[in-house]
Amino acid sequence: MQFTFISTSKETTQRLGAFIASRFVRGDVVLLKGDLGAGKTTLTGGVAKALAIQDDVISPTFNIMKCYFKGTLPLYHIDAYRLEGQNIELGLEEFIEGNGVCFIEWPQYIEPLLPDEYLTITLKNAGDDHREITLEGNNAHFDDIVAAVKGEFK
Ligand SMILES: Nc1ncnc2c1ncn2[C@@H]1O[C@H](COP(=O)(O)OP(=O)(O)OP(=O)(O)O)[C@@H](O)[C@H]1O
Ligand SMILES: [Mg+2]
Repeated sequence: MQFTFISTSKETTQRLGAFIASRFVRGDVVLLKGDLGAGKTTLTGGVAKALAIQDDVISPTFNIMKCYFKGTLPLYHIDAYRLEGQNIELGLEEFIEGNGVCFIEWPQYIEPLLPDEYLTITLKNAGDDHREITLEGNNAHFDDIVAAVKGEFK
């Protein structure tokens, strides 16, 4: 199932993150696609807040991964941007489909490590503060999340 809407502000994108956060279960994987500055980290920040994670989510571009353990569910935030063309044998699999929820920016650079089932969220700059956001699930659980988003953000 797929659903697309326009987010008109950073806050709306964060609200989307907060809305989906409560629907995640351990082991869930979310692929975040979109260009530099599309809003992937901003969305993840909304998720973190709703999981009662106090720390600000910052772009882990220089860290590859940041882990947040203090919320209601562990959050693993991977930014694979710097892994393009690199050796990806870093043991990231342990966190992808691990005991928390895992958000992956630039997932195309770690394609071989990705599981079979995930929610894909694609963000596209649509001018000024507008972002076209498309959600697509590839199993029943993620389809339920997409359907709930459709009801809320239509
Ligand atoms: N509707 C919107 N949704 C999300 N971010 C928005 C929106 N409007 C403006 N912005 C701004 O766009 C920027 C998005 O930056 P962010 O770091 O989230 O992008 P990113 O996709 O993670 O980029 P990168 O690939 O470099 O990590 C922020 O400065 C944010 O304030
Ligand atoms: Mg980012």
